[in-house]
Amino acid sequence: MRENEPDIKYLFEPRAVAVVGASHDPKKIGYKILDNIISGGYPGKVYPVNPRGGEILGLRGYRDVNEIEEEIDVASIVVPAPLVFDAVKRCGEKGVKFVSIITSGFSEVGNREEENRIVACARDHHMRVLGPNIFGVFSAPCSLNATFGPKNVRSGNIAIITQSGALGIAMIGKTKVENMGLSAIVSVGNKSDINETDLLEYLLHQDLTRVIMIYIEGLKAGERFVNVLQRTAKQKPVVVVKAGRSKRGAMAAASHTGALAGSDEIFDYLMKQSLALRAESLNEALEWCKFFANTPIPSKDNTVIVTNGGGIGVLATDACEKYGVGLYDDYLTLKETFSGMMPSFGSTKNPIDLTGEATPDLYEGAFKASLEGESIHAVIALYCETAVFDIRTFTPMIEAYYRKFLEAKKPIVFCLVGGQQTEDAVDDLRKHDVPVFTDPYEAVSCMGALYTYVHHRRSHSGSVISISVDTASMEAIIEKAKKEKRRFLLAHEGQGVMKAAGISIPRSHVARGLDQAVQYAEEIGYPLVMKIVSKDILHKSDVGGVALNLVNRKEVIEAYEAILHRCRTAFPDAKVDGIEVTEMVHGGTELIVGARIDPSFGPIVMCGLGGIYVEVMKDVSFRALPLSLREAITMIKEIRSYPLLLGVRGEKRKDIDGLVETILKVGEILQTCRSISDIEINPLVVDVEGVKAVDVRILLSP
Ligand code: COA
Repeated sequence: MRENEPDIKYLFEPRAVAVVGASHDPKKIGYKILDNIISGGYPGKVYPVNPRGGEILGLRGYRDVNEIEEEIDVASIVVPAPLVFDAVKRCGEKGVKFVSIITSGFSEVGNREEENRIVACARDHHMRVLGPNIFGVFSAPCSLNATFGPKNVRSGNIAIITQSGALGIAMIGKTKVENMGLSAIVSVGNKSDINETDLLEYLLHQDLTRVIMIYIEGLKAGERFVNVLQRTAKQKPVVVVKAGRSKRGAMAAASHTGALAGSDEIFDYLMKQSLALRAESLNEALEWCKFFANTPIPSKDNTVIVTNGGGIGVLATDACEKYGVGLYDDYLTLKETFSGMMPSFGSTKNPIDLTGEATPDLYEGAFKASLEGESIHAVIALYCETAVFDIRTFTPMIEAYYRKFLEAKKPIVFCLVGGQQTEDAVDDLRKHDVPVFTDPYEAVSCMGALYTYVHHRRSHSGSVISISVDTASMEAIIEKAKKEKRRFLLAHEGQGVMKAAGISIPRSHVARGLDQAVQYAEEIGYPLVMKIVSKDILHKSDVGGVALNLVNRKEVIEAYEAILHRCRTAFPDAKVDGIEVTEMVHGGTELIVGARIDPSFGPIVMCGLGGIYVEVMKDVSFRALPLSLREAITMIKEIRSYPLLLGVRGEKRKDIDGLVETILKVGEILQTCRSISDIEINPLVVDVEGVKAVDVRILLSP
């Protein structure tokens, strides 16, 4: 929070509100907002502002916000775009804390200048801006419906933050149909000032809110978002749906670290790191939220599937594997628990198959046994319509057992598949908040999301450990490049940065003449690599500026002459600083480790399979910085090539600790040297003995 900024609490719990642009015309948005505030039962004072004065919805219309005597916490601005600046200025003069600008026609249509002018004016008055281009705010703690969405929003414990206003309005309608109660719904629109992170900070501490859903299209200031999300998701489930799989970040990237993944993929990793739950669709997100809002947290992981159909049981089993739901597999206990109520041809192995002859009584027996079984912690109950089953007696039993499971703090989900009678039963049960679905994957997806959240809460993301790097030496190298007006470091400078961070590099020297090259070669030992050193020759291999696998003095002499000759022919004016003589590293696994300042997400770090297959394999993992030791280890385990590091076909385990340390150090370099925008080590050779940064590329911020 900046100095003198109002507490975000007053946006959600204002003591008095004004509607600037409250209209006399019932068809206009300015009228609807006022109407919603009044009919929503907001207990504070409401002030319509309209230059025509008069009376609107039984309230006195004020010609100017400054005519109002009482302090105003939130003013909804509903005047046409060209009038917004002036309206905001008047609110600032009045000392309003928040303006919620409904009006469209700003940065979303390229009118950024006017939007910036409005935010600057608000800032001058220590006032904060929600929007513009939003549908407004609904907040249950003070029954405030300052939106132009539907009336009579049902209060509850789900909070929704949405970047899309239209979708937000639709979601209010949908949550109503689905019988879901909201603690808040806010649209952030153009996010000219207040963004998702600011709202999360409030919702994290707001008691009414049990689960938070965020619909996002693009992210600004991702660093703070990840940080606050991490804190929030430890306390309550946060479900994120992201649209707009932007390629902008990747296009802007000058290195693999950015180009290897679209920004959406990075976003996915950051959500994992933040412990948020990323839903694939709006429907899935809403279903998860509804489930979270009404379901207890299971004490442990043993889930049992109860079914009357083998096929649907197998589908649910597959879904359990996909969504990480742990099926109970102590077959002796399962047999003891369920064999009493089973037909002889049923199965007590999980899924508990009551067979097509199942009756409501058999289900009741299985529910009762699951409820009483201490080692059973959650149930997925499946039903396929059969001619011998009376669903009308089953429906009230499902509802009754759902409540009993709630009391016992055991989550249960139902999936009923069949014709009209079954569909009617599903509708009826959903009206009574019972989590019931018509597809086993949907049912298990909810249970999976719950368990992912439970596992997140139990896990510790680990603390960020401090790594020391020799910043002064790095800065000296960077200064030299800056003086030469370079935005990149030369190879040996990159190695200098590695050395300063304590990352091993191959033994190497820059020779300024043939004799020196031979002397260095003898010192280092064979095989060797030689490379031209010149800031004017970037793609060294293309002009024959690199010679590999030199095994004796004679080859070194020949290579020296040949490299110089080829480079001088291709670039007669290039300034050559010398020829690098380097130990040739062979064996080991070639990885890539990188870090960069991402335009959306801030500083991020990457690791994956490196070498020449980087682009083809795209086997990489990302995290936001700062990074804990645990996260660095998780990153490595996430890449598909991880078994190569453990050793395959009798190979020994590679130096994974060294790799972890390198990732942390690369992150530290980026965080301490703010002039660096991109670092990429490819390959980083990891073998049994240790790691070596063979090729290092470092870019500087413009
Ligand atoms: N202060 C207060 N009220 C003012 C005013 C001022 N400086 N200037 C004009 N008004 C009044 C008008 O007199 C009018 O009241 P009236 O109908 O009683 O005469 C009222 O404000 C509205 O002004 P009007 O010019 O009629 O605008 P409008 O209602 O047609 O449109 C918006 C205003 C904000 C709704 C419209 O510009 C807009 O942006 N629409 C899109 C909104 C949207 O989709 N947002 C994103 C949602 S996701």
